Amino acid sequence: MLRRLIYLAIITALTACSPDISDFNVVPFPTHISPKAGAFDLNESTAIVVADQSDQELAQLAAYAAELLELELGLPLPAQTTTTHPGTPNTIGLVLSEDATDNESYTIEATAEAVLVRAATHAGLFYGLQTLRQLPRSRADQPPGNSNGSDWYIPAVVIEDAPRFSYRGMHLDVGRHFFPVEFVKRYIDLIAMYKMNRFHWHLTEDQGWRIEIEKYPRLTEVGAYRKETILEQNFDPYVGDGIPYGGFYNKDEIREVVAHAKSRYVTVVPEIEMPGHSLGALAAYPELACTNGPFEVATVWGIHEDIYCPKEETFAFLEDVLTEVMEVFPGTYIHVGGDEAPKVRWEESTLAQEVMEREGLEDEHALQSYFIRRIESFLRARGRQLIGWDEILEGGLAPEATVMSWRGTAGGIEAAKQGHDVIMTPTSHVYFDYYQGNPDNEPLAIGGYTPLQEVYEFEPVPSELSPDEAQHILGAQGNVWTEYMKTTDYVEYMVFPRAIALSEVVWSPKEARDWDAFARRLQPQLEWLDHFAVNYRVPQVDGLESDRLTLDDRATIALTTLLPNATIRYTTDGSDPTVESTSYSQPQVLPVDENGVTITARAFLASGMSSPPSRARIRRTSLRVAEGIGDGQLESGLEYAYYETQVESIHDLSGLTPIRTGVTSDVQSEEVVRDEQFGTRFEGFLKVPESGVYSFYLTSDDGSSLIIGDETVVDNDGFHGLTEVSGQIALEAGYHPLTLLYFQAGGGKGLQLTVQAPGQEQQFDPQSWLYHMPGR
Ligand code: ACM
Repeated sequence: MLRRLIYLAIITALTACSPDISDFNVVPFPTHISPKAGAFDLNESTAIVVADQSDQELAQLAAYAAELLELELGLPLPAQTTTTHPGTPNTIGLVLSEDATDNESYTIEATAEAVLVRAATHAGLFYGLQTLRQLPRSRADQPPGNSNGSDWYIPAVVIEDAPRFSYRGMHLDVGRHFFPVEFVKRYIDLIAMYKMNRFHWHLTEDQGWRIEIEKYPRLTEVGAYRKETILEQNFDPYVGDGIPYGGFYNKDEIREVVAHAKSRYVTVVPEIEMPGHSLGALAAYPELACTNGPFEVATVWGIHEDIYCPKEETFAFLEDVLTEVMEVFPGTYIHVGGDEAPKVRWEESTLAQEVMEREGLEDEHALQSYFIRRIESFLRARGRQLIGWDEILEGGLAPEATVMSWRGTAGGIEAAKQGHDVIMTPTSHVYFDYYQGNPDNEPLAIGGYTPLQEVYEFEPVPSELSPDEAQHILGAQGNVWTEYMKTTDYVEYMVFPRAIALSEVVWSPKEARDWDAFARRLQPQLEWLDHFAVNYRVPQVDGLESDRLTLDDRATIALTTLLPNATIRYTTDGSDPTVESTSYSQPQVLPVDENGVTITARAFLASGMSSPPSRARIRRTSLRVAEGIGDGQLESGLEYAYYETQVESIHDLSGLTPIRTGVTSDVQSEEVVRDEQFGTRFEGFLKVPESGVYSFYLTSDDGSSLIIGDETVVDNDGFHGLTEVSGQIALEAGYHPLTLLYFQAGGGKGLQLTVQAPGQEQQFDPQSWLYHMPGR
């Protein structure tokens, strides 16, 4: 009883003092939060008020605030235009003031009497409301005895907030799959709730032209439809689904989306691709190509060789198209693509070669540069600004053009150094068509791996830039290419919650970025999305990332989830967990028989949504017996054989003659590495200090493999970027023969081996464990 009294005293003391800023679950996290003592109670008679009766937009914002708060509180608060001054007791006032410095910034001041949201612009107020909706707390979640009749309150606080970047974007490809206007508006609503202010609408593709152009009706009569779509990834041999597919937006629908976006303070950036990704247009108007056609709207993803021919007729067509595009899209930016345009048709075209001759262009890249510059000056003469993917840098670019860096950040760095404005959209962090979990447990995606934390940790300003150059980084954008996203549900699954992580990258101050704190703020965001029945991806259960070995007949599993309110459920028979499966609350010791055991876990939310499964197999093993070698017989370092040739797999190294052999203790030393087209075979012995199960982590670009004795412990073979693969083996204390194979074909390179010893947390570089037999 005494203990219970002390407990109550502590709780009372905690709730009486003002909250810490970490109690504010706001995403994106604001620049400054100063908690104050006291609270503003919300009840049926709390009014949302604006004072200026002539400002329609302000009145609309008050009505929107009422909508947001009703969703959050379940309370219909009246939105009123009043003549009383803002700050009247029991009101939430929206005030346009002159004192804010940045045009998207806002402040919120909540006292026991009233709440005031102030900004210099309507956009700033809109962002203030997105923060405001995240402030109310329920007394129902608090210990009883604290209520004065109101369930909801806003803790007293002063918040001052402004965005870090001016361009905060999300993209949507409607060429590969087409999504209805209602969904496009919903998408804009959702991203705007996270303070995104640009919607990049990718409207034309090889697989479909999606915007009505009155002067060229065949673009949508013919170019908007394909006869079928490739089935999953059946490229070779090709298998199609046999189902005609298509659709487009007419001008009224485009205007509807643009107007809706405006009401959410989002500018639409339309993209009309050129000179590549244009089969939709060429199918409709084959005379725009360098060859005769006929062309078909593509049914297969990838890069297509038929592109616009740089004829006068093509420029006239594109200028007509862009003229109609500018009529319906009032924003400054017009995106013209520019990526992935193969040059073979231009190389073989007399016409293209004549243009090169006439314009004094050195090669086909210079011809693409000429193409883009011509369009750039057309747009600029009409007060617009061109954006293109980073390929538009090749061969030179007009200084006014803005570059979207997608092939990593190198294009963005180069562009900023040349004085171009840059939007960062690198595949490494913000391609939301990439997998967000283990592909074995996810719906089919294009490839890659970009989990939530990777997005969150993206830094848009590369360290290579000087402070002046860094001014050119306007912001970042998440890209949503829809080859494998056939449905709106699947788009939502790929976008949320990754777009929420991105919102903090582009809005919040760099110093505020803190993954653990963000993870704590995540659950309320998902609950907010529940109001709109968004099909977000529930983060998977962690703790089952890789298969494991045990020397025992038991193994301990420790499972976690980012969401404190989720229930983890698991099975041990390989089946997918359901709401009936065993619930997990603390580390479990499980029996492991001769057949091993497969643990499958999922996180379930009260809403009924659940995460994709996580799965790991635990197998029994026995110790590999150490070699009968004494300590004095070996010397440190591994023997190597170094090859200079182009291979596609570590298996291609066998039977080749090395150009150099020797001993090294550094697998990346100069003797065994050059930029590309080489491979190395390392051989020797691994000395392990104690008997037990060891985990090896092998990271390489391109392929690699680790063999101990005659067992392949880690297989990381194949052409790929820097990728980590791990594996385990049980080793007796002593020496074990080791072979490490590595090849590098082209692009980036790298090789690293780390090890985790039994019962230890950390991984370390096992250099001092590597030996060879001298004089062999
Ligand atoms: C792109 O992903 N091709 C810009």
